[in-house]
Amino acid sequence: VQRAGARYHVGTFGGRYAKGDEMSEPRILRTAEEMRTYRRSLDGTEECVGFVPTMGALHEGHLSLLRAARARGDRTVVSIYVNPTQFGPGEDLNAYPRDLQRDLGLLGGEGAAVVFTPDDRTMYPEGFSTTVSVEGLTDGLCGAGRPGHFRGVTTVVAKLFNLVRPHRAYFGQKDAQQAAVIRRLARDLDTGVEIVVCPIVREPDGLALSSRNAYLDPEERAAAVCLYRALTEAERAVAGGETSPDRIRARMREVIGCVGGGLARPEYIEIVDPQTLKALPAVNRPSLAALAVFVGGTRLIDNLLLHPGT
Ligand code: PAF
Repeated sequence: VQRAGARYHVGTFGGRYAKGDEMSEPRILRTAEEMRTYRRSLDGTEECVGFVPTMGALHEGHLSLLRAARARGDRTVVSIYVNPTQFGPGEDLNAYPRDLQRDLGLLGGEGAAVVFTPDDRTMYPEGFSTTVSVEGLTDGLCGAGRPGHFRGVTTVVAKLFNLVRPHRAYFGQKDAQQAAVIRRLARDLDTGVEIVVCPIVREPDGLALSSRNAYLDPEERAAAVCLYRALTEAERAVAGGETSPDRIRARMREVIGCVGGGLARPEYIEIVDPQTLKALPAVNRPSLAALAVFVGGTRLIDNLLLHPGT
């Protein structure tokens, strides 16, 4: 594939694999066999494989994961696969933005060694009948409103871990529940994969970067800042000595009403333990404020760690 001065190798394994840096081009692998063969070529070397799983529609948040992997000296594999099993009926599977050429253009400068772009037949061959689920952690927050979502995520991530066999895998804190669930999966199944969770990347007005921000029209985009404003209101409340989750949540809801106007509709606003994701009776230790809000027809999530007494 030739594009904007960058060249990408497509197809079967063969030839030289330069460690990812700005000067090298990512190799594109499409099949499970190509991925396995590439990975085997690194066995017995000193290379540490860093893995950034994505669904494409890349933005600075994804690129920050790549940079974190590069900062650790990892040879980085990025996967781009819109995983159908993590979308519920009526969700945005078909509308989900897909632009591989644009994504490859963004990855070109970020030092990815390999881009793995499997298709549905590779990931879910005929007769596929195995699922991986993490119990408990997936019950609340996004799990309550999106039944089956996390089973789809953990199944695909387990499969990708088997194909890529990374030493480390990088996830964004924006999907705080997903990160906690994947950490548990990695631990429970003894994958040996170190899970690295990187900070949320935000627009200058605080909106967390998300591929779904592309769905927002200008009015919705302006309203979408209500998520971050609600979170900073929670932070202010805690800094002022408030410890009641109910009162903090009420203040967050009020901010969403004021800033989001008629366009914002909260799905949940919760204050939970950052590890167990269980609701807390009092905010007297580090706590996670997390929320999902529909802005127009777009469901957005965000979160912030609250540190009482600081
Ligand atoms: O966070 C995502 O983009 C997806 O949930 C993931 C981890 C790539 C699995 O499809």
